[in-house]
Amino acid sequence: MAAITLRVNGEAHTVDVEPSTPLLYVLRNDLDLSGPRFGCGLGQCGACTVLIKGEAVRSCIRPVSQVAGQEITTLEGLAQNGKLHPLQQAWIDEQVPQCGFCQNGQILTAKALLDKTPNPTDAQIRAGMNGTLCRCMTYYRINAAIKRAASTMKGAL
Ligand code: FES
Ligand code: FES
Repeated sequence: MAAITLRVNGEAHTVDVEPSTPLLYVLRNDLDLSGPRFGCGLGQCGACTVLIKGEAVRSCIRPVSQVAGQEITTLEGLAQNGKLHPLQQAWIDEQVPQCGFCQNGQILTAKALLDKTPNPTDAQIRAGMNGTLCRCMTYYRINAAIKRAASTMKGAL
């Protein structure tokens, strides 16, 4: 066991865990953050996605020791000052989720995409979201929500 300090959603947390423990387990079990989900546990579905330095990272295969001290954002950290992020609002407006299980990964992957490509084409959305799986096939609504959020964010600038 080792004491490891994580910076999650702007706050520092020190946990006492095996260094090889997947970040996902620490977020859910030690920090009580239920945004990131356990889907495949193999880095193949995206349900466990978090943002680290703006990149969408699959936390189920990332040892917690590798992210000590780095700024980690989970779905819980997207809203600011009680206001939903434009992506979260667009997800509601487009009524994207079905079962909802994959949506943590969808929204955070979309955040990483829009941060790099503020006005993506359909092809750029497909490429940016590639590999973030939805068994309920909500992909068309995800596409619409990303475009809606992009428009909102453009108007806000
Ligand atoms: S649970 Fe991490 S990629 Fe599937
Ligand atoms: S909404 Fe059910 S898996 Fe995506």
